[in-house]
Amino acid sequence: MARVLSGPETPDSPGPERYEGVYAERRRSCGMALYDAVGVAREDHDGHSPQMLEIVRFFGAPHVAVITSPKTLGTDGVMDCGAYVANLLNLAEAYDLGAIAQGAIGMYADAVREHFVIAEDRDVVCAVSLGHADPDHPANTFRTDREEIDRVVQGLPA
Ligand SMILES: Cc1cc2nc3c(=O)[nH]c(=O)nc-3n(C[C@H](O)[C@H](O)[C@H](O)COP(=O)(O)O)c2cc1C
Repeated sequence: MARVLSGPETPDSPGPERYEGVYAERRRSCGMALYDAVGVAREDHDGHSPQMLEIVRFFGAPHVAVITSPKTLGTDGVMDCGAYVANLLNLAEAYDLGAIAQGAIGMYADAVREHFVIAEDRDVVCAVSLGHADPDHPANTFRTDREEIDRVVQGLPA
């Protein structure tokens, strides 16, 4: 799987053309915090960094669930997968398991489909790696920030 990082990206559904505003800021601060925690230099944030390789190693997890959706369901199916993944993450937590949702794997959908023998008529949405978390691993020493409620929920005007 590691060789896929040097090949062309083949996503089943296009991601954002670019991240803007608060979305770009959150993405950057989350990424920087992770790279700082694991000690990756800022100039080494490319597809060959050890941290990028972790994506296709599934972080050494013993299990991975590849989440797919029938192509015929389009974005409705992908939305349903989001609800499914949220519940899977909560369930893993309830069973004291570590779980890492991995949207980035969708950029290499063709390689994922081939490796995991997934039917051509399904979109590769994401993966969820599952196992026992290592609390001492540097990547687990930081937590992402949480927004204030009034920055994510809009009330009716008075
Ligand atoms: C659907 C989904 C896809 C994600 N995809 C990735 C990914 O491809 N790469 C990555 O580093 N983090 C990804 N994340 C974020 C991590 O799984 C994790 O949630 C993040 O590091 C924040 O962890 P925390 O909420 O415990 O602070 C994804 C999260 C979700 C919910």
